[in-house]
Parts: sequence; C-alpha cells; structure tokens
Amino acid sequence: MKSSSLQKRLGIGLTLGMTLLWLGATVGTWLVVQHELNEAFDSALEETAQRILPLAVLEISNREEPRDAQHVAPLKTHKEYLTYLVRNGEGQILMQSHDANPDIFSKHPAEGFTTTEKYRLYGASALRETVFIEIAEPLGHRREAAREALFALLLPLSALIPVSLLGIWLFVRISLRSVIAYRRAVEARGVGDLSPIKVARLPAEIDPLAEAVNHLLERFRKALEAERSFTANSAHELRTPLAATLAQIQRLRHEAPEGPLRVRAAKIEKSLRELVRLSEKLMQLAKAEGGGLLSETPQDLIPLLAHVVDEWNHSSGGRVELRLPAQASMYSAIDPDAFGVLLRNLIENALKYGAADLPVEVSLSESALLRVINGGPAVPEPVLQRLTERFVRGNSEASGSGLGLAIARTIVEGVNARMLLVSPATGRPDGFEVCVWLPVVATLEG
Ligand SMILES: Nc1ncnc2c1ncn2[C@@H]1O[C@H](COP(=O)(O)OP(=O)(O)OP(=O)(O)O)[C@@H](O)[C@H]1O
Ligand SMILES: [Mg+2]
Repeated sequence: MKSSSLQKRLGIGLTLGMTLLWLGATVGTWLVVQHELNEAFDSALEETAQRILPLAVLEISNREEPRDAQHVAPLKTHKEYLTYLVRNGEGQILMQSHDANPDIFSKHPAEGFTTTEKYRLYGASALRETVFIEIAEPLGHRREAAREALFALLLPLSALIPVSLLGIWLFVRISLRSVIAYRRAVEARGVGDLSPIKVARLPAEIDPLAEAVNHLLERFRKALEAERSFTANSAHELRTPLAATLAQIQRLRHEAPEGPLRVRAAKIEKSLRELVRLSEKLMQLAKAEGGGLLSETPQDLIPLLAHVVDEWNHSSGGRVELRLPAQASMYSAIDPDAFGVLLRNLIENALKYGAADLPVEVSLSESALLRVINGGPAVPEPVLQRLTERFVRGNSEASGSGLGLAIARTIVEGVNARMLLVSPATGRPDGFEVCVWLPVVATLEG
C-alpha cells in the first residue's frame, strides 16, 4: 500500500475539523443574532403603533365626518418604511398612511403580531376595540440584516482555510525536520557501517523507533562480528597444525622409497596445500567483511600496484604486463593491505584461467580505473553473473575454492567502489576482463 504523507493528512484533517467547528459556531451565533434582531424590530414596531394610536384616535374623534377615510399627507414626499391602517371593528378604514396598501392587511383587524409572506404586522386597539391600528413592516429589511450577519460570520472562514492549511503544513514540516534528518542519516550509511544512528531531538513518538533500530543494529553487528571472528579464528588456528602436517608429509615423501608410497605422500601433500590455500582465502574474506577497508591517510596506489605485479612476475615468469597512467602518483583512501588482496586475487585468476601463451594485462587509467585482462575462452553471461558469489566456480579444470572473486567484491563494496566482469574482454573476440573503479582522493601531478 502506498504510504500517505503525515503532513497532508494532518493539514487536511485539522483544517476540515476546524472548518466544521467554525461552521457549527457560526450557525449557533447566527440563530441567536436572528432571534435578538427580531425582538428588537418587533419592539420598535410595537412602540410605533402605541405612539400613533392615541394621536389617530384624537384626530378621528375631532372630525366632523368621521366615516371618511383619510390619507395622512406626508410632510415631505418619501418612501415609507412602516405603513399603517386605522380601522374600526368591522374593518372600515378610518385613516391610513399615504403609502399604505390595504391588501397586505387581513380583512378584519386583529391584535398582536402576525407574519405574512412579505410583512410583519402588529395590531393594537383603543376605545374598547372600536378603533384598531395595524402597522406593517416589510420583512426584507430583517432578512437583509440576518444575511449580513451571516456573511460577516462566514467571511473570516475564507481566509482561515488557506491560512490554516499553510500554517499546519509549515508547522508539521518544521516538526518533522529531525525525522527527515534521521532518514538521511540512515540513507547515508555505507555497506559496513552498523554503528548506532544518532539524531538529536527526535519527536517522542519516533524516538523509541530509533532506539529499537539502534538495538537491532547492535545485535546485528554483534552477530556478524561473532561470525567473522569465528571464521578468522578458525582459519588462523588451522594454520599451525596445517603447516606442521605439511612439513611432516614433505619429509615422509623424501624419505619414502621410490614407488606407490611416495606417490601417495605427494597426493596428500597436494591436498594439504589446497587446504592451506582455502584457510588463507577464508581469512581474507573474513577480514574483508570485517570492514576497516579504508585507511585514514590516502595511499599512493602506483608503487603498491608495481610491487604486486613484480611479485607475480617473479613466480609466473614475466607473464604480467603493467600499464600505468601518465601521472606519477594516484592517492586513494583504500587500505593498502586490502588493495593488495584485491589485486592478488584478480591477477591469480587471470594467470590461472587465462590462456597460458598470452600475457595478462594489468592497467590503471588516469581516472583510477583498474583493469585486469587475460586471453582464453569467453565465459558465458549466465555463469559470469554468479562468479562473485561465494564458492561459485566456473567450469575449469584448475583447482580453487571459488572465493577469490567474492573477496574482491567484498573489498570493492566496502570502499564504495564498483566492479564489473566482462567477457569477452572489450575489443576482443574472447578473454576475460575485470574492471574496478577505485575511489581516488586526489591526483597529484609529479
Ligand atoms: N580471469 C579469469 N578468466 C576466466 N575465468 C575466470 C577468471 N577469473 C575467474 N574466473 C572464473 O570464475 C570462477 C570464480 O573465481 P574465484 O576467483 O572466485 O574462485 P577460484 O579462482 O575458483 O578459487 P579461489 O580464487 O578461491 O582459489 C573461477 O572458477 C573461474 O571459472
Ligand atoms: Mg581465484
């Protein structure tokens, strides 16, 4: 399942929650405001009716012909907001404000508040319910007031939503900084680095996780160390008894008379030598896996390379050709011993599996690319892929344990370099080539 961003979830969730709360509060406030507004408007309406009524009664009773309806002329022409009718008990109009429309009032006058579709009405009576006044107020005004109150309450929300989204996004981002730093620290780990990961001020929710990871790393490191030291110790412990046995067998072979006994002694000696070689390779592998493949001070690779090639040329009769870069020195952080082991394994293979009549080419380019090339039949691709695994061998007659290329790969990975096996060798119909891109620190022109 695709993991979703905490930042996104918190941002959306909190903003949504806050918006809903705000909307709830807005509706509540709005209902209260509407109620209070209605009360205020109603009391104004009532007040007005009570003020006009005595004046209207006075006016009507002073008339000579009281039965005539009378329009109250305005002092100044204006559009009336409140209109009123004064009627008698039978609904006959005695007096009306100049804009009053009798249709909006009910047929028979009534006391108290009523609401029609468009008007709020209030009726009051005087002279024992013989004179009624009714006053009408259009509802539009109240509705507008309510609408504006609602709008004023909702307006901040439009600013609040983006501000909250941005704020939460930023806040979460800042809060998660140490988690991101932790992730980087984990990612930056080299292959062999199993030391605890330390990141300051992790959130309390993540801290136990980091601790658990460190515990795991620690246990993992201990287990690996135990395994490696066991391999290295066993190989080391085997050395002395093997050497002693080998010496005894050699003496036996010399002392034995010509015949089957000597042949058998020679066979045992050969097997013992293979055993010595195997224990030697096991120790090399255990050491390479133990880390410490980078030296503190950069070493010049060129004299090291020249020395190892010289050594092999002594034992192989000058079959190794060396090609060096133009510059006099090439500094690399790779540990000199590890570099020696890597080189010996590659050259040993080239001499052992390469065509005996062809030279082995060892070259170091200016860009620190080490190449070991030999002739001989090409190795098919599927076999080539698996050769760097432990105890995996190609189909060759020569004896070996299948550890050489595994050792080389372990060293190369331990120094963050890259190794490539190519067969047939580049630019040739056959042969075998190993390329190693070495980590260089600086190249000093000499
Ligand atoms: N230069 C080469 N040319 C052709 N084949 C090679 C070459 N190097 C390695 N191989 C093949 O790869 C296999 C694995 O090599 P590796 O060095 O890992 O083990 P090994 O040489 O068989 O044994 P060890 O090196 O442990 O004594 C070899 O058995 C061989 O078939
Ligand atoms: Mg080998």
